[in-house]
Amino acid sequence: MDIPRRNWLKLAAALAFGGRMPPGHAADSPKLLERAIPKTGEKIAAVGLGTWQVFDVAGDAAETAQARETLKTFVGLGGRVVDSSPMYGSSESVTGQLAAELGVESKLFVATKVWTSGRDAGVRQMEDSMRKLRVERLDLIQVHNLVDASTHLATLREWKKAGRVRYLGVTHYHAGAHADLEKIIRPGDIDFIQVNYSLAEPDAGRRLLAAAAESRTAVIVNRPFAEGAMFRRVRDKPLPGWAKEIGCASWAQYFLKWILAHPSMTCAIPGTRNPRHVADNLGAARGPLPDEAVRRRMASYFDSL
Ligand SMILES: NC(=O)c1ccc[n+]([C@@H]2O[C@H](COP(=O)([O-])OP(=O)(O)OC[C@H]3O[C@@H](n4cnc5c(N)ncnc54)[C@H](OP(=O)(O)O)[C@@H]3O)[C@@H](O)[C@H]2O)c1
Repeated sequence: MDIPRRNWLKLAAALAFGGRMPPGHAADSPKLLERAIPKTGEKIAAVGLGTWQVFDVAGDAAETAQARETLKTFVGLGGRVVDSSPMYGSSESVTGQLAAELGVESKLFVATKVWTSGRDAGVRQMEDSMRKLRVERLDLIQVHNLVDASTHLATLREWKKAGRVRYLGVTHYHAGAHADLEKIIRPGDIDFIQVNYSLAEPDAGRRLLAAAAESRTAVIVNRPFAEGAMFRRVRDKPLPGWAKEIGCASWAQYFLKWILAHPSMTCAIPGTRNPRHVADNLGAARGPLPDEAVRRRMASYFDSL
C-alpha cells in the first residue's frame, strides 16, 4: 500500500467512525489476506460481504445511507466479494446503485444467484440480476439452494463459454444438503460452492471441505456467525486472553479467523449494514491465523460457553 492510500484510509476511517476506530481495522496493519480461486489462481480478499436482509433497503433513505457507508468502508479497506440473490428483495438493485454512486464497480467481485425453476425462467432471472447489479458480466452466479440445479448449471456452462459469467457455483445453507453439494462438485467442473460453516455449524468440516479441496472448488462460507446467533451466545463474555495471541480484537474476528484458517477456505461473507462491523470483519483477514491445535482450542472454548 502506498503512502497516499494509507493516509486516505486513515482519513476515511476517521470520517466514518467519528475518530473512534473499530477493532483491528487499522489501515497500516498487516496486509489483507487473499486466497486464490483454485480453478484460475485469481486472488480475492478472504472476507467479503453478504447482503441478505441488510441491503434490502430500497425506499428507506436512512438505511440506504448505512448500506452506502458500509460498502464504502468495505471497498476502502480492500474488500471485494459482494454476495446477493434475486431472493433478497431489493438487495441486488441497492448494491448496483450504491456501487455506481461510489464509483467502485471495478473493485468488486459481484456474486449473485439463480433461484427459480426452468431454463427460460432462469435466463430471465439472471438477465434481470445483471440489470439490477448494473454489470455487463457477473463474476459468479450460483444456483441458490440447489433449486433446479442441473437445468441452471447447463445454462451457466453455456454462459461461461460465451463470456457472460466468469465463474459458476452452487449454494446451500444447511448441513442436510452437504451430501448433495459433494455429489455435484466431485466431477470437478464447478468453480465455487457456498456453504454454511462456523463454530456453531461445523458439519462441512467433516467431508465437504475436503471434497472441495480435492475437486479444486473454491469455498465461500455463508452464515459465518450462524445468522448472528453466535454473538448472543458470547454476549457479556470477554474474549479469552490467548485469543489476542492470534490477533483477535473481537468475537467476530475470533469466529472468522477460525473459519479462514481452514485450508479449503476461499472467502467468508458475513452479512452487515454496519460500517463498524464491516471493518471489524475485514480485520479478521489481517494478521495471524490459528494453527490446527489453536483451532481445536477455539472450538472447545466456544462449545464450553
Ligand atoms: N442459501 C444461501 O445461499 C445463503 C443462505 C444464507 C446466507 N447466505 C449469504 O451469506 C451471508 C451471511 O449470512 P447471514 O447474513 O445469514 O448471517 P451471518 O453473516 O452469520 O450473521 C449476520 C448477523 O451478524 C451480525 N454481524 C455481522 N458482523 C458483525 C460484527 N462484526 N459484530 C457483531 N455483529 C455482527 C449482523 O448484525 P449487524 O447487521 O448489526 O451487523 C447480522 O445480524 C448472507 O448475507 C447471504 O449473502 C446465503
